[in-house]
Amino acid sequence: MGRPIAVKTHVTGDLATLVSDRPLTGEDGEAFASPGDALTAGTPASVLAERLFNGDSAINHVFAHSNVVEVKRDGGWDATSLTEVTHALKVLLASPDALGANNSLPIGGEGLGLTVAEPSRTAVTDVALDPAHIESLRATSYNATITSIRRVHDSLWIIDVTPDGEFPNYQAGQYATLGLGFWEPRIDGRHEEFAEGQIEKLARRSYSISSSILDAEHELLDPTAEVSLEFYVVLVETDWQATPAILTPRLFGKGVGDRIYLGRKIAGRYRLDKLTGNHNDVAFLATGTGEAPHNRMVLDLLSDGHRGQIVSVCTSRYLRDLAYLDTHNKLMEQYDNYRYVPMTTREPENEGNRMYIQDLIKSGGLDEAFGKQLDPQSTHVYLSGNPAMIGLPKWDGDTPRYPEVEGVIEVLAARGFTADRRGAPGNVHYEEYW
Ligand SMILES: Cc1cc2nc3c(=O)[nH]c(=O)nc-3n(C[C@H](O)[C@H](O)[C@H](O)COP(=O)(O)OP(=O)(O)OC[C@H]3O[C@@H](n4cnc5c(N)ncnc54)[C@H](O)[C@@H]3O)c2cc1C
Ligand SMILES: NC(=O)c1ccc[n+]([C@@H]2O[C@H](COP(=O)([O-])OP(=O)(O)OC[C@H]3O[C@@H](n4cnc5c(N)ncnc54)[C@H](OP(=O)(O)O)[C@@H]3O)[C@@H](O)[C@H]2O)c1
Repeated sequence: MGRPIAVKTHVTGDLATLVSDRPLTGEDGEAFASPGDALTAGTPASVLAERLFNGDSAINHVFAHSNVVEVKRDGGWDATSLTEVTHALKVLLASPDALGANNSLPIGGEGLGLTVAEPSRTAVTDVALDPAHIESLRATSYNATITSIRRVHDSLWIIDVTPDGEFPNYQAGQYATLGLGFWEPRIDGRHEEFAEGQIEKLARRSYSISSSILDAEHELLDPTAEVSLEFYVVLVETDWQATPAILTPRLFGKGVGDRIYLGRKIAGRYRLDKLTGNHNDVAFLATGTGEAPHNRMVLDLLSDGHRGQIVSVCTSRYLRDLAYLDTHNKLMEQYDNYRYVPMTTREPENEGNRMYIQDLIKSGGLDEAFGKQLDPQSTHVYLSGNPAMIGLPKWDGDTPRYPEVEGVIEVLAARGFTADRRGAPGNVHYEEYW
C-alpha cells in the first residue's frame, strides 16, 4: 500500500532543508552531531540521524524540528545524496519500523516530493547480477584496497585498508565507514531479501580505527607515516535472529588485493581532546573489538610521552579473541605507566566466577591496576563496545534512569564520575557499537 508523503527540499551551500507534511519531532527539536548522539536518544529523529550518519559519512549534523529536518553535509549536496536523505525521511515517516536493524540508508528510486510506496522485497536469488555488471559496479563504487589481513581466527580479523587517493586526516579514537555492495557474496549462505534496486547499492558500517601500536622491532609506530588504516573486525553471526548480519559476512569473504568502499570522512568525538593534561590518569575499558580505538589512542599517548597512568582493560569470550595481547605485554615491559588487563568470560576457569568490567571496578581490581584509588578529579575513563557494558542512562531532567542491567557508567557514578552529556562534558566518554 502506498502512503503519499510530500517532502520539499531546499539547498543552501552545505545545508539541505527538508520540509515534510507531517512532524518527526515535537516543538523542542533534536540536534545530532554524531552517530553517538543519535544512538543515545532512541527517538524517531535519532533513528533518522543514525541512518544518515552511517549511510553517508559526509553528513556531519542533523537537526529535526517538528516537520523540518536540516542536514549539513561536507562538500555540499548532489542529486544522489539529496535523494537518499529525502527517501530516508519519507520511509521513516511512512513507517517508523521501516528502517529496521540495518544501518544502511533505505534505497529506492523515488524522486523528490513523490509518493513513497512500501519497498517491494525481492529474493536475492531472483536478482542475481551478471559478472560484467558486478565488475562495473565494483569499479565505480570502491575507492580503497584491502592491503593486509591478519586472521586472528576464522571470526576475528585485523584488516589494513589503503585509500586510492589522499590519506585521510583523522584523530586517534575516531571511526571510518567501510562498505561493500549488496551484490557481494556472503560466506554464510544466508538468504536475504532486497528492496527493489538495493542489490546495486552499498551496505555501509562504521569501524573504529585501530593500531598495532608497535612495529616489527617493537618500537612505537610513527602515526605520521601511516599509509593504510587498521581495522579490528569480528564476524557477526546472527543465526539466532531473523535478519542476517549485513556487512561482516561479505567482508569475511574478501582477501588481500580486493577492493572496498572507504568513507571519505573520518568522524567521531571519542577522542583524546577530552583529557585536560599530560598527567591525567586514563582508563580504557572495552568489550571485544571495542578495544580498537583504545589501541590507536594508546599509540598517541605513548608517542606524546604521556605522564599519567594508562590502564587498558578488554573483556572477551575467549583468550584467543584478545588479538593484541602480545603487543600489550611488550608495551608493559617498555612503559612503567602502561598496564593491560585481559579478561575472559567463557574459558573453563570462568565457569561459575565470570567477571565483567563492572565487577572488576566494584571489587577494586581497576584501582589495583592503577596502583591507587581512581580519582575522578584527575582520571578520564573511555568505554567502547557492547552498549550493555557501557550502560548509558536515559535522562529525566537531571535524573539518570539507568538500564536494568547495571553498566559501567552507573558503577562509576557511585564513585563520583560523570558521563558526557550533550553540552555537559564529563570524565567518562563512550563509543557504543550498536
Ligand atoms: C562508532 C562505531 C564503531 C564501530 N567499530 C567497530 C570495530 O572497530 N569493529 C567491529 O567489529 N565493529 C565495530 N562497529 C560495529 C559495526 O559498525 C557493525 O555493526 C558490525 O560490524 C556488524 O555489522 P553487520 O552488518 O555484519 O551486522 P548487523 O546486521 O549490523 O548486526 C548488528 C548486530 O551485531 C552485533 N554486533 C555488531 N557489532 C559488534 C561487535 N563489534 N562485536 C560484537 N557484536 C557486534 C550486535 O548484536 C548488533 O545488533 C562499530 C560501530 C560503531 C557505531
Ligand atoms: N568470540 C568468539 O569466539 C566468536 C566466535 C564466532 C562468532 N562470534 C560472533 O561475534 C560477535 C561478537 O562476539 P564478541 O564476543 O566479540 O562480542 P560480545 O558478544 O560483545 O562479547 C564481548 C565480551 O563482552 C562481554 N559482555 C557481554 N555482555 C556484557 C555486559 N552486559 N557487561 C559487560 N560485559 C559484557 C561478553 O561476555 P559473555 O561471555 O557473558 O557474553 C564477552 O566477554 C557475535 O555475533 C558472535 O556470534 C564470536
